[in-house]
Amino acid sequence: MPVTVILGCQWGDEGKGKVVDLLGQRADVVARYQGGANAGHTIVWGNRSFVLHLIPSGIFTADTTCVIGNGVVIDPAALSREIAAVERLGYHVKGRLHISLGAHLILPYHKALEKAREAARAQRAIGTTGRGIGPAYVDKAARTGIRVVDLLCADTLSAKVRANVKEKNALLRHVHSSTELDAEAILSEVIKVRAAFAPLATDTTALLLRALAADRHILAEGAQGALLDVDFGTYPYVTSSHPTVGGACTGLGIPPSAISEVIGIAKAYCTRVGNGPFPTELSGMIGDHLRSHGQEYGATTGRPRRCGWLDLVALRYANAINGVTELAVTKLDVLSGLDLVRVCTGYRIGAERTDQFPTDAQALRDAAPIYTTLAGWNEDIRGIRTYGALPQTARDLVAFIARGTGKPVGMISTGPRRSETIRVRINP
Ligand code: GDP
Ligand code: IMO
Ligand code: MG
Repeated sequence: MPVTVILGCQWGDEGKGKVVDLLGQRADVVARYQGGANAGHTIVWGNRSFVLHLIPSGIFTADTTCVIGNGVVIDPAALSREIAAVERLGYHVKGRLHISLGAHLILPYHKALEKAREAARAQRAIGTTGRGIGPAYVDKAARTGIRVVDLLCADTLSAKVRANVKEKNALLRHVHSSTELDAEAILSEVIKVRAAFAPLATDTTALLLRALAADRHILAEGAQGALLDVDFGTYPYVTSSHPTVGGACTGLGIPPSAISEVIGIAKAYCTRVGNGPFPTELSGMIGDHLRSHGQEYGATTGRPRRCGWLDLVALRYANAINGVTELAVTKLDVLSGLDLVRVCTGYRIGAERTDQFPTDAQALRDAAPIYTTLAGWNEDIRGIRTYGALPQTARDLVAFIARGTGKPVGMISTGPRRSETIRVRINP
C-alpha cells in the first residue's frame, strides 16, 4: 500500500497534528520526516489535548507504529520528557515508537549558538523558536553532527561531544563574546536521558521498506510548512530543513515512486510566527479576530502568531512544488462572524501584476496583495460535520479555493477535535 504525505502549505501551524491524528487512525505507520522540537502539533481528543513536538501524531492511536526518521533533529532531553508525558497519559510508547539511528542530535551548544546568532542579527533576526534547529542542521551538513547511533557507544559519544564543544566554545567566546559550555556537564546530561529512548533506536528505513513491501499504509508527517522550506521558502526567513515533499523521501528513506498521495493542509486564512515577509498580513480588528477566535498563539513558544487573509498565490506555489493531490482546509470556523472574507489572488509588485510567488524575501516584501472579496457568514459553524450544513457563503469560499488552486478539497476542518471534520470531494 502506498505512502500518503501530509504537509503544511503555508508557514506552519496549519493543523497538521489534527489531520495526521485523524487519518492516522486508519494507517499502519505514521512517520515524521524532518524538523525537530521547533514543531508543535496539537492533538485534541475526548476531553484531552496534547502538543507533540517530536513524537509523530499517530501515537494516540493504540495500534499505530510511529517512526522518527533520519531527517529529524532530536533534542534528547526534549524527547525523553515527551515520551514520559505521553506514557503518563496511558499510551504505550516503547515497542511502538522507532527512532532512526541516523537522526542527528540537538545538544545545548546548538541552542547557545542559535541564541548568539539571533542576537547578532539584531533587526534582521529570523525569530527562530530557539530549539537549536539551524545549528544542528549546520553540523549535519558539515559532517560533524552527533547521531542517535553515537549514543550507543560511550567512547564515540564522549569523543564527539568533547570535540564539538571545543569548537563551539571557540565560536561562542571569540565570535559572540558569549559564555562557554562544559563538555562534561553536557555528556552527563545526555547519558542520563539516553536510557529513555536509546533502546527504541533502529534502522527505520529498513522498517519502512519492510512495511511498504507488506503493503502497509504509511503516513509521512511533515513539520513546519512549504513556505518555511530552506530551499523553497522565503529565505532567509525559513527553517533549516525540507518540509516539502522531497523531505519525506530523504528524511525517511522511502522512494518517490511509493508516494501516491500528497495532502496539502492550508488554513482558511494565513498565519506566520517569527519574522519575514507576509503579504496578506492584517493589523487591526480582523487580524485580532483571527488571532483570538483561532487561538493563534505558538504551540511551542506561546508567541502570538501574525494573522492575515488566505493567499492563493502562495498556496498555488506550495501545491505545485509538492505535487499536492488534495487539499485539507482547516479552521474554517474561525472566519465565522466576519461580514466579508478576502482571498488574495495575485500580487502587484511595482507596476507589474503577477500570480507567481516570488521567494526572494525583498520582492515578497514589496508585493501588494490583490484581493477578491467574498461574503462572510455569521453562524457559528464550529463542529459542523456535513458540507450541506455549512452556510452557502462558507461553501462558496471552499469552492473558490478549489477553483482558484485547481485542486480538489477533500477535507474541511471546523474545530480542533477529530470529530469536527467534514470529508468531501469539492472539485475545482
Ligand atoms: P500544526 O503545527 O500544523 O500541527 O498546528 P498547531 O497545532 O500548531 O496549530 C493549530 C491549532 O489549531 C491547534 O491549536 C489546533 O488544536 C487548532 N485547530 C486545528 N484545526 C482546527 C479547526 O478546524 N478549527 C479550530 N478552531 N481550531 C483548529
Ligand atoms: P509546526 O510543525 C510555525 C518558524 C519560526 C521561525 C522559523 C525558523 O508546528 O508547523 P527554527 O526554530 O525552525 O529555526 O525557526 O520557522 N517555525 C515555525 N512556525 N510552525 C512551526 O512548526 C515552526 N517551526 C519553525 O517561528 O520563523
Ligand atoms: Mg504547530
